[in-house]
Amino acid sequence: MNATVEAEDVKMLFRNQHAFLIPKIMFTASDLGVFDLLMESKEPLTSVTIAERLGTSPFGMERLLDACVGYKFLQVERKDNQTLYGNTDLANLYLGKRSPKTQYYSLKINAEFTYTRAQHLADAVREGKAQTYRLSDSSTNNFYEAMYRTESGLREFMEFMREMWSLCGRVVLNAFDLSPFPLVCDVGGSSGALAKEYISLYPNSTVTIVDLPEVVETGKKHYVSSEEHRITFHECDFFKDPIPEADLYILARTLHVFTDEKCVQLLTRLHKACKPGGGVLVVEIVLNEDRTWPLEAHISGLVMLLITQGKERTLSEYNAFFNAAGFKQIQQKKTGHFDAILGRK
Ligand SMILES: C[S@@+](CC[C@H](N)C(=O)[O-])C[C@H]1O[C@@H](n2cnc3c(N)ncnc32)[C@H](O)[C@@H]1O
Repeated sequence: MNATVEAEDVKMLFRNQHAFLIPKIMFTASDLGVFDLLMESKEPLTSVTIAERLGTSPFGMERLLDACVGYKFLQVERKDNQTLYGNTDLANLYLGKRSPKTQYYSLKINAEFTYTRAQHLADAVREGKAQTYRLSDSSTNNFYEAMYRTESGLREFMEFMREMWSLCGRVVLNAFDLSPFPLVCDVGGSSGALAKEYISLYPNSTVTIVDLPEVVETGKKHYVSSEEHRITFHECDFFKDPIPEADLYILARTLHVFTDEKCVQLLTRLHKACKPGGGVLVVEIVLNEDRTWPLEAHISGLVMLLITQGKERTLSEYNAFFNAAGFKQIQQKKTGHFDAILGRK
């Protein structure tokens, strides 16, 4: 083997073996306030000043800042014999707690909730099931029961879900002309972040968010003001309770949490409730047919294994669900990170 190729292999092996540190680095720097401080200071700062302002050791802070430079979360400049640290555009936009499109709760959930379960990946592969039940503070293996056990867990998960739509909501809803569907039901719609994008894109639309009682209660209290009459919340277990009639059902990041049987069961219930000529819009990361890419689908598939009963699927697999439930004229559009799949009744 040629020496350059071998050196590249060694680099790749070293980096991949330590890649588990990346979410920890991103979250720790965000949580300690590094990105917010640098955003608000308007000028680059030394590691000693950053450590002083954030109440950490200068030694530890310098290690963290240098790693952030390595991963391009921060940039450095040399001035008057000093190393000065500043945010990259990526950090300014997404990584600060007060960044305009902050992904703070996404970082937190991945660095804490997912990370602890990932210690049991081999068990998950052996058993083919989620690993929440192994954790000492858990009495359940059900993802939502574990997440919603405390008020703070529920709020953090809803924030995590909300954050993504500040990045991708508009582009996902623009994948198809949804103007023929003014009466919309966002099934498992959480805080209503996608619902807000929908009503701003389609001025004659109204959206009902269907979700579990604790989510609905928090959604009404913290996310959608009572003046916003075009968005309403509806408490419902969508596997058991009647589903409101609508022209369009949105199922965003919801099917990938469930088994194949549950997906067909839910889609069949939506088909029954759907108005004639209506449809269902599924938003997921779709695997290509030979299951080789995108890498995001593989990553998300493993996360689903660790925490839920679900997985990521190919378009053929979603087609089979739609057909079994009665939806036809299935169309798929890639929208960047997510795919949108529209089926008609
Ligand atoms: C993975 S989250 C996706 C949230 C949202 N669609 C989004 O993309 O941001 C799935 C949502 O389904 C809700 N959910 C799960 N099981 C449910 C059930 N049986 N009945 C109603 N809602 C449910 C959860 O509370 C959660 O809000």
